[in-house]
Order: sequence, then C-alpha cells, then structure tokens
Amino acid sequence: MDIELTDEQRQVRDLCREFAAKELRPNARRWDEHHEFPAEAVRQLGAMGLMGVAIPAEWGGAGMDAVSYALAMEEISRGCAGTGVIMSVSNSLYCDPVFKYGTDAQRERFLRPHASGAKLGAFALTEPASGSDAAEMRTVAVRRGDRYVLDGSKNYITNGPQAEHLLVFAMTDRSKGHRGISAFLVPTDAPGLTRGKPDDKVGIRASGSCSIFFEGCAVEESQRLGGEGDGFKIAMATLDGGRIGIAAQALGIARAALEEAVAYARDRKAFGQPIAQFQAIQFMLADMATELDAARLLVWRAATLKDRGVRHSAESAMAKLYASEMSERVTSRAIQIHGGLGYMRECDAERHWRDSRITQIYEGTSEIQRLVISSAVLKG
Ligand code: CAA
Repeated sequence: MDIELTDEQRQVRDLCREFAAKELRPNARRWDEHHEFPAEAVRQLGAMGLMGVAIPAEWGGAGMDAVSYALAMEEISRGCAGTGVIMSVSNSLYCDPVFKYGTDAQRERFLRPHASGAKLGAFALTEPASGSDAAEMRTVAVRRGDRYVLDGSKNYITNGPQAEHLLVFAMTDRSKGHRGISAFLVPTDAPGLTRGKPDDKVGIRASGSCSIFFEGCAVEESQRLGGEGDGFKIAMATLDGGRIGIAAQALGIARAALEEAVAYARDRKAFGQPIAQFQAIQFMLADMATELDAARLLVWRAATLKDRGVRHSAESAMAKLYASEMSERVTSRAIQIHGGLGYMRECDAERHWRDSRITQIYEGTSEIQRLVISSAVLKG
C-alpha cells in the first residue's frame, strides 16, 4: 500500500527497512531474552536523524514530517519493537514538546543533543496512583524564589534507566486541578533525583523503564517548559502525537508477524500439501492483511492531519485504538498458524505477541482512547 508517498517519505521508509533487516532483526531475540538495551543501534538511529525526525535541522533533527515519522516507526518496530519505543519516546514525547514549547535557551540545552541522538530523553507523567487519571498526580513542585522543589515519584518511565533528561509533570497549585500542573526539564543527575531498578517486563524488553523518585529535587525557573499551569495541556497535546508513534509501532509488530506467518504457511506441509493451500489458513491471512492495511490508513490519516497543523486528538486515538488491538489479533493468529512451534521461545511469533500487548496500554489505554473518541463523536 503506497498512497501518494513523496520521494522523501519512500526514501526514509526504505532506509529504515534496510537498517531494521540488517541491524535490528538479527539481534531482537537476544535483546528480548537478556532485557538488553540496544545502545549501538540507538546510536546509529541518532546518526540517521531518527531520534528527532520532525525536529528542524537547525536544532539537530532531520526536519521531516509526521508521515515520514510513522513510516520510520513501522519499519524500525518491524525489526525490533523495543527499539521502536525507545525511538518513539525520544521523538514524540520528548523532542516534539521541547521544540514546540521550549525557549531557544531550552532548545539549545535540552533539545539539540537529543534530536541528534547524542542524549536520550523520557516523559515522566505516570505515577503509582495516577495512570489513566493523569490529572490526579501527587508529585509536587513547590516554588522557592526562582526555583521549584520537586517531591514525589513517577513509574513505568520508558527510557528512564538510560535518559539524561526527563520531561516531568508536577503540581504547582493543587487548588487549580489540572490547571495547576506544570512541566519541567530535569537532568537525571540532579541532586534529589534517584532511579529505581529497571522494570522486568513481559514484552518490548530491549527498552528499559523504571521508577523515578524526587526528594527535594531543586530546578531553576528557567527549566519550566511553558507557563505555570500549562503542564496538563502540554502532556495531552504531546500524547496526541505520541499515539501516532505507538500506533505505527503496533503496525510494525503486526507486519513482522504476518510476514513470518506467510513464509511458514508456504513452507509447512500437512495432509500432503503446504498449509497455505488450506482455506482455513488463507482466511486467517486475508483477515490479518486487511486489518493491517485498515490500521495503516488510520495511522497515515492522523499523521497527515498533524502535518497540516490540524487538531488530531480523536484521529490519533482511533489509530492507536484500532492498530493496537489489531496487532494483538494478528500476532495471536500468527501463533495459531505456526501451531505448537508458535508457542515456543525459539519462534519469533510469541515475542511479537508479547510485544504487541503493551500498545493497548501505554500512552493511554484502549479505554482512554475510547473516551477521547466518544467525546469528539458526542461534540459532533
Ligand atoms: N490537546 C490540548 N488540550 C487538551 C487535550 C489535547 N489533546 N485534551 C484535553 N485538553 C485540555 C482540555 O481542553 C481541558 O482544557 P480546559 O482546562 O481549558 O477546560 C483540559 O485539557 C482537561 O481536559 P479533560 O477535562 O478532557 O481532562 P480529564 O482530566 O477528563 O482527562 C483524559 C482526560 C483523556 C482521561 C487524560 O487524562 C488522558 O489522556 N489520560 C491518559 C494518560 C496517558 O495517556 N498516559 C500515558 C503515560 S505516557 C506513556 O505511557 C509513555 C510510555 O511509556 C511510552
């Protein structure tokens, strides 16, 4: 499916496809097994401009559009879904908001080295007692002169174990509810900031996540991103872009599973012929391919709206909802086609299934996507 991609978009897709085939796919199972961060691959992604795809070249990025980003995310995740999310957090959840809301001084310190891939960023919103209900956060930032002092904790922070800088959301005025939340750029070596041990996850195990603790962690006023009280809207608008990246990650995982199921169905014989000759298998492959293309169209639509500067909250939510749930169905059918082998760790099908599962949870669960979509539908 190639609907009016530009030459530049095709080039980035092909470059990422080649990189994923050479550098990611051959290593993905080992990284998964050992929960190993793919440091060298991430360095190479940075050199290719893929850690700040949509950031202008003057700030160290590749200056490409959101459709190119979605194409790149699908290809990279097709090779290794864990590497895909490392890239998506750097792009959508860290570099994009620092570029959009940052001053030039903040961009110089907190964006340039990230867009070029020299440093890694993370997005610290979720807390032990506030996941879906993000506005209910407990972490506070108390103003003391020209500084804020952060206290509280964040958890499941993707890229947390490796990140040099975090975009942290904290309450500066609880009486104002979500309008009392502000955003801060915090180096992970700041006094008063500590990290928990890396989380032991079911899937996307090449990517690290951990808890972050703040105890009297002081930051300068100049490290606040946007105005005081702008934090919640910054987080929500940022997630509108992030959900496109996760939807594209779900596409890549599903495509890997489909391609491998097709190859296996052509090769594996039963009852005297390749199982691809049986309608039971053909119908499964037909549904997998149809759902994958339908999801991709939703992803490209959301990315196109983002490129046009149009609000795309509902379209991003639809893309993530459908692509993530499709990804679990497709990866599960891929296991079915592989039969007993599909359930074994030696077969990549089980990894794709495990990797797909988180796409229905992070950056807003499927239930939250349905809330965002139904709110747009009811507003008309
Ligand atoms: N863009 C800009 N502003 C937005 C917005 C958007 N997309 N969505 C909401 N807002 C604004 C609203 O206009 C409203 O503004 P006013 O104060 O001016 O009225 C304000 O934000 C509050 O909006 P709501 O009343 O809709 O907010 P809510 O408290 O009911 O919550 C929610 C809405 C959709 C449930 C939201 O809390 C949400 O998205 N929750 C899920 C959080 C999430 O996705 N977490 C993921 C963590 S990050 C992660 O997973 C990273 C990783 O590991 C990879």
